[in-house]
Amino acid sequence: MKILNFGSLNIDNVYQVEHFVRAGETISSLGLANYCGGKGLNQSIALARAGASVWHAGRIGKEGGMLRDRLAKENINLDYLETLEDIQSGHAIIQVDQKGQNCIVLFKGANYRFTEKDVDNILEGFEAGDIMLLQNETSCVEYAIEAAHKKGLKVALNPSPITDELAKSPAMKYVDWFILNEIEGEEISGKQDGAEICEELLRRNPGCRVMLTLGKRGCVYCDGQQIFRHGIYDVPVVDTTAAGDTFTGYFLAGVAEGMEMPKVLEMASKASSLAVSRAGASDSIPTRAEVESTDIKLDPKLDPNK
Ligand code: RIB
Repeated sequence: MKILNFGSLNIDNVYQVEHFVRAGETISSLGLANYCGGKGLNQSIALARAGASVWHAGRIGKEGGMLRDRLAKENINLDYLETLEDIQSGHAIIQVDQKGQNCIVLFKGANYRFTEKDVDNILEGFEAGDIMLLQNETSCVEYAIEAAHKKGLKVALNPSPITDELAKSPAMKYVDWFILNEIEGEEISGKQDGAEICEELLRRNPGCRVMLTLGKRGCVYCDGQQIFRHGIYDVPVVDTTAAGDTFTGYFLAGVAEGMEMPKVLEMASKASSLAVSRAGASDSIPTRAEVESTDIKLDPKLDPNK
């Protein structure tokens, strides 16, 4: 079974700041670092580091060689990664404050050059039973969900960053796995409480599986028959960028491997906690060996059942 990630690639310009810049304010940053990022690239790396075989379909500009090299270094298949001559790669301007929290401004760039024809061409290389993973940082997301479903692929969607258009899209009914946070869950389902978000998504789309992350309250998985919860690990917060991407990649890799769901949640939660304790986007994603050998402990103050 192949995993096709139809995903964005961004050059992340990460500024360390005392506080996020406010309207009308000019501030100097404390430092600047450049990383390979983009939710798509980060999730491909998390999948690969978890041990999955990944095909990354993406679009970059001429100056995006570092993004291509980064994925190649992780042995990710790049048959469907195209370099375009007339547009810049996507990029992100990321502020990281003293508490490790971030805020992000995106430039879509080449990520939005996918056409429906491109999607059809890419899907020719895949067959029923393969998995397509998508986020919401490229063009043609809704079309790709529907086209992949029609071909019999399983569709995993991390609807991030969420937009009204995607939240209300009829393509949502073709999603097999939702991997999302509470804000995204609320936008899509119209419900606020974690349990209600799961119920509503399952009511609208019977047979789907919902992996909902709840920030400091950990995460909950439900599929209409089973519910599993997991807490978060007690780690110093350095930079939360790509923590969600790390969770998504590790979660999907565990599912594709056929692991028991409680073990999948443990692995994905440990991996994203390790990512939070390190700087950068893709650079912060741990390897499977690191995840399996870490001795980080569940935070006893945070009971996911409350
Ligand atoms: O999820 C983190 C990512 O969001 C960053 O790498 C940035 O590029 C944005 O896409």
